[in-house]
Amino acid sequence: MTSLTAANAADLVAALLFILSLAGLSQHRTARAGVAYGIAGMALALAATVIVASRSINAGAVTLIVVAMAVGGAIGLWRAKRVEMTEMPELIAVLHSFVGLAAVLVGWNSYLEVEAHGAAQTAVGADLLGIHHAEVFIGIFIGAVTFTGSIVAFLKLSARINSRPLMLPGKNVLNLGALGAFVGLTVWFTVSPGLGLMIAVTVLALALGWHLVASIGGGDMPVVVSMLNSYSGWAAAAAGFLLDNNLLIVTGALVGSSGAYLSYIMCKAMNRSFVSVIAGGFGVEAAASGGGEEEGEHREVQAAEAAELLADARSVIITPGYGMAVAQAQHPVAELTRRLRERGIEVRFGVHPVAGRLPGHMNVLLAEAKVPYDIVLEMDEINEDFAQTDVVLVIGANDTVNPAAEEDPTSPIAGMPVLRVWEAGEVIVFKRSMASGYAGVQNPLFFRENSSMLFGDAKQSVDQILVALDALTPAGAGR
Ligand code: TAP
Repeated sequence: MTSLTAANAADLVAALLFILSLAGLSQHRTARAGVAYGIAGMALALAATVIVASRSINAGAVTLIVVAMAVGGAIGLWRAKRVEMTEMPELIAVLHSFVGLAAVLVGWNSYLEVEAHGAAQTAVGADLLGIHHAEVFIGIFIGAVTFTGSIVAFLKLSARINSRPLMLPGKNVLNLGALGAFVGLTVWFTVSPGLGLMIAVTVLALALGWHLVASIGGGDMPVVVSMLNSYSGWAAAAAGFLLDNNLLIVTGALVGSSGAYLSYIMCKAMNRSFVSVIAGGFGVEAAASGGGEEEGEHREVQAAEAAELLADARSVIITPGYGMAVAQAQHPVAELTRRLRERGIEVRFGVHPVAGRLPGHMNVLLAEAKVPYDIVLEMDEINEDFAQTDVVLVIGANDTVNPAAEEDPTSPIAGMPVLRVWEAGEVIVFKRSMASGYAGVQNPLFFRENSSMLFGDAKQSVDQILVALDALTPAGAGR
């Protein structure tokens, strides 16, 4: 008991706080408490790390650490305050890339330290040199894959590069070859370490991370983000082994395993193979179709006609998507819902698991606009009801309502479950143009006979419908 130092105790409490944080974040009701536990755990972990470090390094180095933490913390606070909800996945991708880069630098530092001072003079010890070398390689490999993979994810999520999958010839062989080369290099390095091998593994892993994520199509990006979250956890755990920091190992393992489980849940929801996605689209062949080209005539509708259609309907389903978040249309949409319900019309929401750019993105926006929870249904709960629905309002959704996913086996989004909005009597699509959705796939829904396009910013369009509804027969008068 006496061997339990204050630092060990702080690590233990911080680890428990992180576990409580994950548990809290798993439910809407307890999410705020989860965030608070996470902040408390991180503050404790940072304080304990600096205090422990201050015993073995000079005061100047401690000052440098504190200054670096203050600058990093200030930048983090500034970015987090400014970031829009729709930019959150991009920010997360950038943060994952930092974890990856840190693991690479820790790996290199650890190697150079042993080279400079000899294993016996460092914490490694001569007996464990082989294991240390393997740890260095594994840490650098996971870190570098996370680093470049996260950068590609950031570029795709922020639309700085095309979100379509990169289809290099023999891409699966390239990925498997890189993995095989990593195993071979690791064995070689443990037997005969050298600078050349360090450079080789770093370059190999940087290239593999880039290729793995570039090979995955836009529709599968939600899984990629959670997968990179998991990789960043394992990268942190690997750095923890090298730094001999138990808390970093525990925290990394928590992030790694929860991220892996989230990726698995997302793959199930999107009918994707988990192994295929983590292996950079393994087994997925180049799509024969799915370009952004238009496929026929579309019909347009104005807000006044849309208001009349809605006023005559008995049942309405609203399927929101990323465009609702961009337009910040949730408040007028909530108001429209209230007005239609006052008229005795049944209004419900159908929420696709990957609508928007974050898990639960639409639910958060609808809750913020005070749409009652009981009319917000998951895709599985509502998909059978479209055929008995008079009007569907597709508000800024595209990929998540694309019939090509069910009807075109060559489409890049083939097999992904979608909201079957086209089965309803009338479908009104709110968007600004005929542009494709995030996956870069044209949507045949727009050219169906029962579909019409209401062009314009979704918030303005819904506001116009509200005005037009006011001008119609007052609620209840015609019923
Ligand atoms: P998307 O397929 O992204 O389509 C959104 C549509 O909204 C666009 O076609 C765009 O058309 C329209 N739009 C944009 N701004 C608008 C505005 N101000 N007013 C009206 N319309 C606007 O949407 P989705 O159906 O929600 O699908 C989500 C996609 O993102 C899926 O492919 C999913 O895999 C991917 N993704 C999801 C996540 C998570 S976890 N949810 C994470 C990463 C990626 P116009 O430009 O013509 O207006």
